[in-house]
Amino acid sequence: MSNKSLSADAVSCFEDSQVNAPVGRRGHWSSRLMFILAATGSAVGLGNIWKFPYITGENGGGAFVLLYLGCIALIGIPLLMAEILIGRRGKHSPPDSMKALAQEAGVSSRWKLLGWAGVITGFVLLSFYLVVAGWAVSYIFTAGSGAFNDASSDDIGGMFGALVGDPVASTVWGTVVLAITATIIIKGIRQGLERAVSIMMPGLFVILLILVGYSVSTGYFGRGVEFMFNPDFSKLTGTSVLVALGHAFFSLSLAGGGMMTYGSYLSKDVSLGKTVMTVGLLDTVVALIAGLAIFPIVFSNGLEPGAGPGLIFVTLPLAFGQMPFGQIVGVLFFVMLSFAALTSAISLLEPAVSWLTEKRGMTRFKAGVLTSVGIWVLSLGSVFSFNIWQNYTLFGKTFFDTLDYLTSGWIMPLSGLAMAVFTGWIMTRSATYEEVGDGWGYRIWRFLIRYIVPVAILAIFFHAIGVLD
Ligand code: TRP
Repeated sequence: MSNKSLSADAVSCFEDSQVNAPVGRRGHWSSRLMFILAATGSAVGLGNIWKFPYITGENGGGAFVLLYLGCIALIGIPLLMAEILIGRRGKHSPPDSMKALAQEAGVSSRWKLLGWAGVITGFVLLSFYLVVAGWAVSYIFTAGSGAFNDASSDDIGGMFGALVGDPVASTVWGTVVLAITATIIIKGIRQGLERAVSIMMPGLFVILLILVGYSVSTGYFGRGVEFMFNPDFSKLTGTSVLVALGHAFFSLSLAGGGMMTYGSYLSKDVSLGKTVMTVGLLDTVVALIAGLAIFPIVFSNGLEPGAGPGLIFVTLPLAFGQMPFGQIVGVLFFVMLSFAALTSAISLLEPAVSWLTEKRGMTRFKAGVLTSVGIWVLSLGSVFSFNIWQNYTLFGKTFFDTLDYLTSGWIMPLSGLAMAVFTGWIMTRSATYEEVGDGWGYRIWRFLIRYIVPVAILAIFFHAIGVLD
């Protein structure tokens, strides 16, 4: 892209950050569809394709899927609405959007800490997200090389072990992911983010459909459907609810600053209700279809659905090595996983970049490079958690697990609670109504966000820390 438009973009972000500057000049999505693609790109990620199938496998299938759908509908989507609403009304990076809305509501500007929590969560999440994303990208090449063909399960386990156990390889692949992410971010909203999502998201959907078609052809599709949709409640464990809620947060990209920032680039004339529902629905449908693509392949090869985090990197490659056209299917699968991860990574970096351009007057180039360097350094800790630092633990958790636990276990649920309280109880009814619109939908949303969401999060949270049993 030309430097001219790059600097124009930076300038428009900067100008708008001045107090009371007109909002029209800030970075903006060129259409509602672009917002939907970008927000769906954020939501659909490793969470849908890597984590959802394996936690469904670990928690016994159908009953867990139901629990998850309940969390998405009653807690996730209302919160997604809250987060995007804050961004759109605040029209700034997360801390300043929160500050503006707190001032509007006549409460303490300290609410901007909630915006900070988002920016920081996004930053920390990206530092370990990119490690797994790096494995996904590297597996495009492993699959393409034919290394899985007729390999034994020991061979394939060994390949994954070698990648994860090699600090240099993991660092290199993580750096590749970060470099691509930063390049897209630096190019700005229209030339970078919109272009990336308009190539990768349709690509992802097409590949997903091809893979489901393949799964149907294995003859085990029915087994997959039954596993995912035939609930057996005896298979749920005490922690299943927690896992389902935590994953609903993660999958919808809640409380990581990204959705708030994307909301801030959304114009006023878009109906939030329908837009948010579309994003939530697409995220859920992709997770379900990913399961329907993966489980039949697992069953048709006589493998275990409950293999844990290795489901995608060990179990599935084993199947790719056995089946007809497995080399092609394998490459397609990991390209899809990489697209999903990259469009999410962008949304994890954008909040910090938007804050630096807005408040520090940096160009997107400078902000992108600076944040990337910080994330890169932090990511080394996560890479090393799987090899040279694997024995250094804090309360039995490695560095990677600790970051995951602090963000997904604490900061995200608490931020979710705070967002529910803020939009449900602190912002005025007329302010939120103006954003959400749509009579019935608004009433349902307001009821859920005021009562159901806070109570559910608190109950689950106290259960998690052992106060409620
Ligand atoms: N939702 C993405 C996934 O499922 C991950 C993600 C992107 C995210 N942005 C986020 C998670 C913000 C939490 C918060 O892989």
